[in-house]
Amino acid sequence: MTENEARASLVDTARRMTPLGINTGRAGNVSLRWHRGGEDGLLVTPSALAYERTTIDDIVWLALAAPQGEDPLADSPRRAHGTRAPSSEWRLHRDLYATRSDAQAIVHAHPAHATALACLPRIHAEGIPAFHYMIAVAGGDDIRCAPYATFGTKALSDHARRALEGRRACLLAQHGAVALGTSLEAALELAVEVETLARMYWLALQLGEPARLDAAAMAEVHARFARYRPDPG
Ligand code: 13P
Repeated sequence: MTENEARASLVDTARRMTPLGINTGRAGNVSLRWHRGGEDGLLVTPSALAYERTTIDDIVWLALAAPQGEDPLADSPRRAHGTRAPSSEWRLHRDLYATRSDAQAIVHAHPAHATALACLPRIHAEGIPAFHYMIAVAGGDDIRCAPYATFGTKALSDHARRALEGRRACLLAQHGAVALGTSLEAALELAVEVETLARMYWLALQLGEPARLDAAAMAEVHARFARYRPDPG
């Protein structure tokens, strides 16, 4: 893939979020791990630009390495190349690629059901539990919810990194959801799956207290997934 093709697939992925029902308006952001001239980095959508108006030239490249003495409160990265400001969540994307070698792409969106759940104290405390076997697609026996922090901050990035330990997706309290993938397609698919699970859990909660699969049942699902879905996505 050329860099322009990578940029085009980022724009395409960002535009697909709304018709897929996982985002609205200018919310969210999408990135792809991208080395440039031998340097580790990432391509990310620009900040606060409507996706219909976003073109490949608006995509921003950032170096993965945090520059020495970087201000942890800095609003913008010191090593960015682009005509636009990168997504305000550049630090979340950069820090995840720096610590998660399995992540090649990241989708962050504000899906309605996942975000509604992420406003509830019970979800803050225990995430979305194993009420359905497909919870396993996120990598574990639950989908955790990262504590609230202001968007675009190092605190939010730190919370998300912890919530994603051993997982490929998490909720962000009072904010949205994040999904990691081995490709943009996989990250987008997982983000849609998380929203579907959140919707199912929300529906089940209307009817009573959903039953949960125990650790043994989930261990069987993980083992079966290793054969049935060997590509973690
Ligand atoms: P950006 O437009 O800066 O990417 O911000 C959108 C968002 O969802 C922040 O969390």
